[in-house]
Amino acid sequence: MTFALEATGLVAGYGEAEILHSVSVTVADGEMVAIIGPNGAGKSTLLKAVFGLLPARAGEVRLGSEDVTNHTPDRIVAAGMSYVPQVENVFPSLSINENLEMGAFIRRDGLPERLERVYEMFPDLTSRRRDAAGKLSGGQRQMLALARALMLDPTVLLLDEPSAGLSPKMVHIIFKKILEINKAGTAVLLVEQNAREALSFSQRGYVLVAGENRLEGDAAGLIDNEEVGRLYLGES
Ligand SMILES: Nc1ncnc2c1ncn2[C@@H]1O[C@H](COP(=O)(O)OP(=O)(O)OP(=O)(O)O)[C@@H](O)[C@H]1O
Ligand SMILES: [Mg+2]
Repeated sequence: MTFALEATGLVAGYGEAEILHSVSVTVADGEMVAIIGPNGAGKSTLLKAVFGLLPARAGEVRLGSEDVTNHTPDRIVAAGMSYVPQVENVFPSLSINENLEMGAFIRRDGLPERLERVYEMFPDLTSRRRDAAGKLSGGQRQMLALARALMLDPTVLLLDEPSAGLSPKMVHIIFKKILEINKAGTAVLLVEQNAREALSFSQRGYVLVAGENRLEGDAAGLIDNEEVGRLYLGES
């Protein structure tokens, strides 16, 4: 079977420190998959290693049938993967429109059509396209970061805590937007602190602990799992 994304046995870290000790995740075509786990488990590190921002010391990353292990992020973007980092995911001094253009910087063709398509998906951004991104609320900023990541119509979207710091109502709105993106055909790998909500929107999930795969399975099964409930869903 070919997956939209298949990371196998990834080892990565910072300097002397090895953080990921052979982590594997897959995302099928059109699937939405959540990664949950405690602070410091290596969730962000995993996404960075998948996206070529951190060298994979061992293991493999495949995007469809293409081996993209340790390719540079711009090559990975060109191959069809986009990434929204946990922090600093928009340029505050640039306008909304300029931020979106940056999302397509590796290609100049079809820019007006790409902008139009993304504005249709995010109508709230349209009327503010000349405003500086720094003026947006937290939720609108996350919308812009998502919109920018969609400029090249990726097959796989990596999201690092898109709901962090938002009000419960905004969290729900963001998840609904991510689901809409997923239903339109983009496979999504989602790292989240809001574990219950993330699992409830996803088909499958992984629990990462101390840089290792701890549990994986159907999202509904993980929500019902006693250990997951106790440790990550705030149940006693
Ligand atoms: N740039 C860095 N240099 C050195 N160590 C780092 C760096 N970034 C992260 N780490 C360490 O790597 C480990 C995993 O961090 P990571 O950010 O991947 O965890 P996480 O699961 O995303 O946590 P959180 O839920 O807090 O976002 C932690 O021990 C962290 O201190
Ligand atoms: Mg993180």
